[in-house]
Amino acid sequence: MKKLEDIVSLCKRRGFIFPGSDVYGGMAGTWDFGPLGVSLKKKIMDAWWDYFVEKREDIYGIDAAILMNPKTWVASGHTTTFADPLVECKECKGRFRADKIANGVSESVTTEEFLNTHTKCPVCGQENWGPIRKFNMMFRTHVGAVLPEDNEENKELAEKSIAYLRPETAQGIFTNYKNVLDTLYPDLPFGLAQQGKAFRNEISPRDFILRDRECSQMEIEYFVNPETWEENFEIMRQMEHDFLENIIKLPQENIHELEVSAEDRAHYSKRTIDFMFDYPNGQEELMGLAYRTDFDLKNIEHESGKSMSYRDKITGESFIPHVIEPSIGVERLFLAILSTAYTEDEINGEKRIVLKLPENLAPFRFCVSPLLKNKPELVEKARTVYKALRQKYRNVTWDDSGNIGKRYRKQDEIGTPKCIVIDFDTLKDDTVTVRDRDTTKQIRTKIDEL
Ligand code: GAP
Repeated sequence: MKKLEDIVSLCKRRGFIFPGSDVYGGMAGTWDFGPLGVSLKKKIMDAWWDYFVEKREDIYGIDAAILMNPKTWVASGHTTTFADPLVECKECKGRFRADKIANGVSESVTTEEFLNTHTKCPVCGQENWGPIRKFNMMFRTHVGAVLPEDNEENKELAEKSIAYLRPETAQGIFTNYKNVLDTLYPDLPFGLAQQGKAFRNEISPRDFILRDRECSQMEIEYFVNPETWEENFEIMRQMEHDFLENIIKLPQENIHELEVSAEDRAHYSKRTIDFMFDYPNGQEELMGLAYRTDFDLKNIEHESGKSMSYRDKITGESFIPHVIEPSIGVERLFLAILSTAYTEDEINGEKRIVLKLPENLAPFRFCVSPLLKNKPELVEKARTVYKALRQKYRNVTWDDSGNIGKRYRKQDEIGTPKCIVIDFDTLKDDTVTVRDRDTTKQIRTKIDEL
């Protein structure tokens, strides 16, 4: 059975992920990606971009600012509805998400429903609760040189300077829909894709990188004729499965679709399927697929006074497109990949940890080593092989630390599919050993044929 603690420990030990601000004791809900983590994260994001944007004719990229005019969040409904049910323990003052600590209640749980569950405080074990309050999860900041504490007169100005860190990347797409329409003149259906940071002041960040206060999203808003929303929803659903199962290589049996009930859906959605994944600590949402209707464009039209209509070039009909939105968190995908790849086995009676990452995602594809570090002729030959491979593949690493056994263990743990070793035979016949990560089998091959 895979344990989350083992994955967390591997991530820190091998430089994938460190707790955010670690040196100062950390900061809950934030994580820093180290050299190997950045490499894997970038490969995941590039694979998504390649599949959904580069390979398609109908989806275009966008990279909008994180700070947006506050009207954005009024129009989107986030200032009023992007809130979680917060409950406070009157004994220990601990604050929790009511729907996460009580069994069988939804995000819209009322105080009465919550009290009826007779939930005990997870910290002090008492059952003495305050009322449920709606806690808005957007991070607030001030834009410009006006701060509320400056003086009394500035209070009003300071109120006006309030801005939010975006809680979803989607709004940067919706607010640019018209710009793209007026510059590229795309026909429906077409999509806009964006990758970037999103911020949520989660009441209880948890499960390593699964629920963060700062995360990265990869989102597509796919604009469609309202009459065709169902077929486009289905197309997106199939594409998501194809991407997750055939490009990212997540096991099909670990992905489960959950049709989200009307009361649990986000305020903008008329249909949502959550793609749930079997993580080490249980099933959790990996990504969401939502039918956002014309909710966002209509509200932007209302708030900005600018038309969001699309005019069909053939029929001449004008209407506001509807939207299908697949949205996935990079960290959740990262953790799904790691928990799939993390394996413990035994080789010649010795326990080993191996990350069986797909070749397209592994931080390094090859590791090159001289058998012995103190033999200059081996090192020189190995450097030649290393340089040649790097020219061809880039993600090739060099390792001459410790003995060969230790190097293999290390490369297994970071998921390097092939280790190439230069030994004394190489000097005679230009052959090297190539060791396979998963089987640990070694073959000899000519350098030219690598
Ligand atoms: N634009 C739609 C949207 O943001 P969401 O279901 O709130 O919908 C989409 O988020 C995805 O973003 C989730 O399925 C998840 O993968 C990721 N995500 C959301 N909140 C997260 C958090 N606090 N930490 C990590 N990932 C998160």
